[in-house]
Amino acid sequence: MATSYSIAELVEDLRRLRASGADERETLKQLRPLAERAARAKDAWLRQDHYEADPQQGFGVHLLHEEPDHSLAVFAIAWLPDRGTPPHDHGTWAVVAGVDGVEKNEFYERVDDRSQPGHAELKRVAGKSFDVGEVLAMPAGTIHSVWNETKATTVSLHIYGRHINHTARSQFDLEKQAETPYLVKVAGQ
Ligand SMILES: [Fe+2]
Repeated sequence: MATSYSIAELVEDLRRLRASGADERETLKQLRPLAERAARAKDAWLRQDHYEADPQQGFGVHLLHEEPDHSLAVFAIAWLPDRGTPPHDHGTWAVVAGVDGVEKNEFYERVDDRSQPGHAELKRVAGKSFDVGEVLAMPAGTIHSVWNETKATTVSLHIYGRHINHTARSQFDLEKQAETPYLVKVAGQ
């Protein structure tokens, strides 16, 4: 049964969690059930326009909340069928909960010694599909890619320690073994 839980209530809980001084591990642990609750209570906050995606980018990034200093950022992200992201990191912790549809994630590890700027060698280490209400919690440094293998647009709820365009994070090209800055287009900006 879906219980009511608004993004405003989620943000209040995020602020309380941060004020408690929780470290990253504790933050992710405590955020898991909150993210699941928000995802299952989508009727309280998900709008039809959150399904809109940028055809060039392959997905649509809808900012639901960020603090004035860009911390505690919450997004609804819509994924077009057969589209996704290259492998990337976040430059902060990240918690993702499935809201509508299944999203496939691949996880990678860096295997180079990071001595050469712009050069990165990755090894795929795992893969998992996340359905509605399932939560993926990633410490800073996690590298993953997301892909929508379904025939419909999917939506997931994303919570980050900091707005992902303000963390100097990276995307990775597996074939070129390249690391480059990763900025996303945010809807309405
Ligand atoms: Fe990500």
